[in-house]
Amino acid sequence: MSSVTVPLPVDELAVLRGRRSAKWQTYPPDVLPLTISETDFSIAEPIAEVLREAVSRSDTGYAQPAPELGSAVAGFADARWGWRVDPGLVTAVTDVSTGCAGLLRACCRPGEAVVISPPVYPPFFDWVAEVGARLIEAPLRQDGSGMWRLDLDALRDAFRARPAAYILCSPHNPVGRVHDRGELEAVVQLAHEYGVRVISNEIHAPLVLEGAAFTPLLTVPGAAEIAVSLLSASKGWNLAGLKCAAIVAGSPAMQAVVGQLPPDGRWRIGHFGVLATVAALTTGQPWLDALLATLKMRRGQLGGLITAQLPDVRWQPPQATYLAWLDCRRIGDGEQPRNVFLDRGRVALEPGPRFGTPGSGFVRLNFGTSEAVLAEAIERMASALS
Ligand SMILES: Cc1ncc(COP(=O)(O)O)c(C=O)c1O
Repeated sequence: MSSVTVPLPVDELAVLRGRRSAKWQTYPPDVLPLTISETDFSIAEPIAEVLREAVSRSDTGYAQPAPELGSAVAGFADARWGWRVDPGLVTAVTDVSTGCAGLLRACCRPGEAVVISPPVYPPFFDWVAEVGARLIEAPLRQDGSGMWRLDLDALRDAFRARPAAYILCSPHNPVGRVHDRGELEAVVQLAHEYGVRVISNEIHAPLVLEGAAFTPLLTVPGAAEIAVSLLSASKGWNLAGLKCAAIVAGSPAMQAVVGQLPPDGRWRIGHFGVLATVAALTTGQPWLDALLATLKMRRGQLGGLITAQLPDVRWQPPQATYLAWLDCRRIGDGEQPRNVFLDRGRVALEPGPRFGTPGSGFVRLNFGTSEAVLAEAIERMASALS
């Protein structure tokens, strides 16, 4: 990683409010939205250029993901994590959500169980319901130092029910935890022992911050036979609206599971998404490094602001992502803290209970924004409590 010290630029609030995306259109203009996981940074220039060129050619038809997407994913995975991906085992999908739901449908019959570890990205619950599976929760636990971890005992208990699949969130949204190799080895061992398929949602993998190291699940011995991974440039480079993600398999057995996805899936992928993803993965690493350096600064800024202005809020700084999981249980339970910050402070945050019952009294704050917006948000949150 290069030692970048200049933070990535963010447009003025007036310009940000002109964005037509959900983050900026959901709340009235007096509310600061630190909600949905998209960032406020200006788009990476190599990506902007590719998109501008496509528009100038009126190149707005259907996507042609192969072979570029597979090569781009393989090149990035190797350069970033030393992970050897076979480009032929990379399958383009519309987005990570569509990929996860499709894989669940391929892995389990209605009525079979699927395990997740809340607090977790809310659609995990929806995908399980969508495919008619039964939900089993194996919640994360906090260790003595407050670090969020997979609860391997809870996972074993859940796996004893012989679920069809486990959806791993790695790194884990909303707590920002980067599971370590030992934990992932234990997950793979349990999955083998109980015959469980693992769907490893690695959408936040490019966003691992200094101080932590990402382990792609498929680099763990034995994982390739029972697991697939989902990757995307949508979080790292803020491309969620363009619709492109990738499923990576590491064995013929798991590629056969991927092969059960709808045959016309390739026509459902965003053409701009493919172009932008290939640009991000092949030429976007310097920008990503600048993003990670910027997020490290914002994380530090947030820590200082919480200490100084929000003494009733506790947190464990995330090891990845631009998402902070704030323990506001001293303020109230359920969605009460979120409501106080929104109603009295005019700051919108994600309410913790959406991430499962362990989220009662928590909020998720998106710090992928400018120093000024973050400072103003915390000031408003502090004044909402005074
Ligand atoms: C863990 C996780 N999975 C999936 C998604 C959604 O990804 P996509 O837009 O590619 O469906 C998000 C978005 O924040 C996420 O955090």
